[in-house]
Amino acid sequence: MNNEMAIREDQKLEIQAATDIVRLIGEQVQLRPKGREFACLCPFHDDKNPSMFVSPQKQIYKCFSCGAGGDVFTFVMNYHKMTFPEALEHLAERGGIELKREKMTKQQLEAKGERQLIGEANEIAVKFFRAMYANEKHGAAGREYVGKREISDEMMEVFGVGVSLDAWDGLASVIAKKGWDIRGFELAGLVSRRQDGSMYDRLRHRLIFPIFDAIGRPIAFGGRKLREEDEPKYLNSPETKLFNKSKTLYGLHAAKKPIIDSRTAVIVEGYTDVIACHQAGAKNVVATLGTALTREHAAELRRYAEKVVLIFDADEAGQKAADRAAEVFLTGEVDVAIAVLPNGHDPDSLMKEEGGPDRWYGIVASAEDALSFLFVRLKEQMDANGTVSGQERIADGFIDRLVQMGLGKTGAIRRAIVIRRLSGLLGMSEEAVGQIISAKAARVAQYRRPAETGMTEESAYADENEDIGEYTEKSVADRVAGGDLGHKLKSVREAERQILGSLIRDHGLFHETLQIGGEEEGVREVVFDEALLPAEMSNDEHRQLYQVIYDKLSEGLELHVTSLIADLVSEGCEGLVRLVTEIEMELDRFGVGEVGDEGLKDMFHEAVKKILITRREKEYEEQRRSLQGRGVMDLESAEDKLRLMKELVENRRMNPSPMRIARFRRG
Ligand code: UTP
Ligand code: MN
Repeated sequence: MNNEMAIREDQKLEIQAATDIVRLIGEQVQLRPKGREFACLCPFHDDKNPSMFVSPQKQIYKCFSCGAGGDVFTFVMNYHKMTFPEALEHLAERGGIELKREKMTKQQLEAKGERQLIGEANEIAVKFFRAMYANEKHGAAGREYVGKREISDEMMEVFGVGVSLDAWDGLASVIAKKGWDIRGFELAGLVSRRQDGSMYDRLRHRLIFPIFDAIGRPIAFGGRKLREEDEPKYLNSPETKLFNKSKTLYGLHAAKKPIIDSRTAVIVEGYTDVIACHQAGAKNVVATLGTALTREHAAELRRYAEKVVLIFDADEAGQKAADRAAEVFLTGEVDVAIAVLPNGHDPDSLMKEEGGPDRWYGIVASAEDALSFLFVRLKEQMDANGTVSGQERIADGFIDRLVQMGLGKTGAIRRAIVIRRLSGLLGMSEEAVGQIISAKAARVAQYRRPAETGMTEESAYADENEDIGEYTEKSVADRVAGGDLGHKLKSVREAERQILGSLIRDHGLFHETLQIGGEEEGVREVVFDEALLPAEMSNDEHRQLYQVIYDKLSEGLELHVTSLIADLVSEGCEGLVRLVTEIEMELDRFGVGEVGDEGLKDMFHEAVKKILITRREKEYEEQRRSLQGRGVMDLESAEDKLRLMKELVENRRMNPSPMRIARFRRG
């Protein structure tokens, strides 16, 4: 990446046009056709049922559950945690578009974030370790070891394996000599600082396995010792802003596509195991990084796979394996199976045996589903214990463990399956088992909830009410009579969104003539752009978005949903991007179409009416109260009421909208 340069703004549309959002998202998560759209599990929250929709027509995505939404740029930014320029660069590269660049300002250079510094240092380090591996002298020990482990050249390439120098200042001295920014290397944990301020290499004389993220950017390193007496066997990068160990799966960049294609992810434990599997052609294989499989791993894999197969060495497959698998099963929507390797084997050694790959596929295919695995072992334990009270204790402990793992919170179907099996095994009714579980789950929940969710019942409630809070704070609404304030404001919001959506779809509506007023004070005609101004929207987001739309349309500029979103993204208005995609999808749900569609027009008129009526009621009420406060009028008099309305109408005429002023000027 060339850092001295910035990407030219005007290329974003070109890049957008070259990127198909369905393919882009489809590379990361499984998409299923649903009507004119595609549906998938939302990768931006812990989604259980597909709540994200991807629209090929509009090239946008939207999650109905967490609200995430946007275009190709926001997807890449949020999914891969990139900045906008990084996303541009990524998509340009993907779409084969050459970026024209401009010189970056000093401020832009200084603003480079920690993540970027670490990422760049890691990129450089990968190249350095690879070059050292190829170096006649420095790479000798590494090459000998790789030969012994029978890792192919192709795998060395795919996994970017290299070697670090047998010195304290291998990388450190090169950084100094080349004048690279040391900060990134230090933040990345590649070098450390001594008391006297001098720098030294952390990874010395090791075979280096770069750890890539899902799209192949190096986020950390694992280094295996090359000398028997060195310790530890593997030295890994510390956790950084780029590297979260318990989320990361080694080999995912190479395994992702095969996992999506086979809908199955196979999980092993070591770097060398992953490489050996890929080398043998089993490419849907990843590894955890010296930790147990976590919920975060499971959440990541659920985007790609329906089934996860955990592979264990014979000596460690037992309680630990079963617990881990059960936890994944209970917390995720993936099926989990467990396979155990023949005694004395790990995947690496198995794959390198005569007939190993065939045995491997057999073992994976016959993996036992996690629940059976769990229950078979429970039964063994119970059978081995002759006494009733002993069996009772084992069963009780087992249910405790299940509850700790999340059985109380698991989905109804999974829960029912577990209950049925337990009831069979314990000779109790399903009802009784269900009651035991509920009681235990309630106890666990009691002491767990606040810390775990960070949200008490009260604050959850307050959150829901935020929806109607805006008017209340801002101005007059708290003085509007009647108990249905919440309802009214909600429908105003809805109406506003329908209006914004209609305007984006059919620009002509901006100059639509409306009939306003009523029987009493007389009907008059007004053009939409004068009737509703951005400042009159009920909340900030609506106001801002309408302002953007208002400015464009009043200048007679084109406005398309894709270019609108691209503009908003590049200006960093993520909230508005979400809003636009939300509105777009809502209109789709509503079944209204494009320019000239009568349904769209009807909806637009209805929505405007709703807003104008609410506004008038509000104004009327406000005026009435203020006059009443001064004892000016008899509220029940029809005459006064009419006078008041006329005043209001006149008031509006005296305060013309920008469009009216513009028209007036133009004559
Ligand atoms: P293993 O000790 O089984 O290593 O640890 P391995 O991958 O089979 O390595 P070889 O075949 O002996 O070279 C499994 C995994 O646990 C982590 C590494 O991710 C390793 O791949 N590990 C192990 C560490 O992080 N640190 C250690 O000291 C040991
Ligand atoms: Mn091994």
